[in-house]
Amino acid sequence: MSREQVSASDPPWWHGAVVYQLYVRSWRDSNDDGYGDLRGIIQRLDHLSWLGADAIWLSPTMPSPDEDWGYDVSDYTGVHPELGTLADLDELIGQAGQRGMRVLLDLVPNHTSSAHPWFADAASGREAARRDWYVWAAGRPDGGLPNNWLDFTGRPAWQWHDSGQYYLHNFLPGQPDLNWWEPAVHAEFARILEFWFERGVAGFRVDVANGLYKDAELRDNPPLDPPNPMDGAYGLRSVYNSNRPETHGVYRDWRKIAESYSPERLLLGETWVPDAQRLASYYGDNDELQLGFNFPFAFASLDPARLAAIVEQTLAALPPGACPVWMGSNHDLGRFPSRWCGGDERTIRLALLVLATLPGTSVLYYGDEIGMADVDVPVELRRDHATLDVAGGADRDRARTPMPWDGSPGGGFTEPGVTPWLPIGDQSRTVAGQCDDPDSTLSLCRRLLALRRAELGRGLADFENLAVTEGVWAYRTGSLVVAANFTGQPTDMPTEAGEVLLTTSTDEAPRSPGVLRPWEGVITLPGR
Ligand code: GLC
Repeated sequence: MSREQVSASDPPWWHGAVVYQLYVRSWRDSNDDGYGDLRGIIQRLDHLSWLGADAIWLSPTMPSPDEDWGYDVSDYTGVHPELGTLADLDELIGQAGQRGMRVLLDLVPNHTSSAHPWFADAASGREAARRDWYVWAAGRPDGGLPNNWLDFTGRPAWQWHDSGQYYLHNFLPGQPDLNWWEPAVHAEFARILEFWFERGVAGFRVDVANGLYKDAELRDNPPLDPPNPMDGAYGLRSVYNSNRPETHGVYRDWRKIAESYSPERLLLGETWVPDAQRLASYYGDNDELQLGFNFPFAFASLDPARLAAIVEQTLAALPPGACPVWMGSNHDLGRFPSRWCGGDERTIRLALLVLATLPGTSVLYYGDEIGMADVDVPVELRRDHATLDVAGGADRDRARTPMPWDGSPGGGFTEPGVTPWLPIGDQSRTVAGQCDDPDSTLSLCRRLLALRRAELGRGLADFENLAVTEGVWAYRTGSLVVAANFTGQPTDMPTEAGEVLLTTSTDEAPRSPGVLRPWEGVITLPGR
């Protein structure tokens, strides 16, 4: 994919694409150490092309002390030795490219690891060359902390350092925040982007995309009332420690870099914001991020009225021609088969139908395709130390357990006898167990992605909500009409529906004309 030529009139590749988020440590262990790795991904790329993914987003691959499993980067142009080598990553990009798939990496620009040489230099003294690459502050005259900001565990976001000042960490003390007021930080990241783009990386998922700049005066955050996990935490609204207007300038600069490549490189932001307007602001005037994750959608319940409203508000708020992104699971939020569907197969199938037919980019998390649920990881086996010692813990491990490829000991993730880094959960849902069963969720997911590609193609499908009643959601998406019955009662098929091309139902009894079965979703072709 190094220097592919694209015509200016082609829609960008991610319009209509399916991105598969792959948690590298849990996908496939090629060297029997209990951790997934890059060679393991190469071994199983055929699963992704068979499924119909257009791109893969890899969870962090860069060297890291792993206090936050790679989200504490100590070298932005390397590969974590436990995951493989730069040569492995090059091969992965090449082999994915041969199968028509692109590779996105995870980029962490809000903070580094405290083990990064930049921080080692910055911390060496107040006159250090890179001192200002991080956010340092004195305590208050009364001896108090510089301000009231809290980190993501709810503890003070300020860590005293022997060099005579506090430094800021919005996440862990081992993840000092970079100071984006410092021009040298911009120059470094421009270089990092170019380094990976030159290697054929198709783009980045940008971690904490609404973070980066901090208030220059380090003002106290105001109270958060009412509570809203997307607007702040621990009783404080994130007004001054993130969401600063200056961050948009970073993305305008990065967009120019992304557009200087052919095909254009993609910036997909972790835009942790509570509403469509603020999400849209990160697309700018179509000159910032090309994509921003829609957290209000993922956090909503699987309720037609709620989802239909969010989709409509999102499409209305985005700048013309901009592409929305939909996802239900990720490595922080947990898995939609549990959160949205309570493990119920019929509902999982409806959710996959929705994710596969909304306009724009859809992101599936590894395991979504088999209906993989959250795994109840016993506390003593948890590996997300970032939150383990906080009351309750965030328990992000529940959605980071190994992919169950088959029912063997080791699950096809690792060799029998090897202890995987996190326990393998339910092996009643596996890839091997589902791939030859036409009624399985995996087969449904594959059919959905094939139909999406065939009928909706590339580009942004026109979207219109048709009927949103209690329990039933019907919409037009491109040339198709989708209808989904989220209730246990049969209901009328919307009048706009046509020939049924796909159903989520496994009921073999003949369909009664004009009726949607309980918990059934269909894709139809109107006019036929
Ligand atoms: C993002 C990541 C999360 C990580 C945090 C700090 O929210 O998704 O896993 O802990 O950023 O980098």
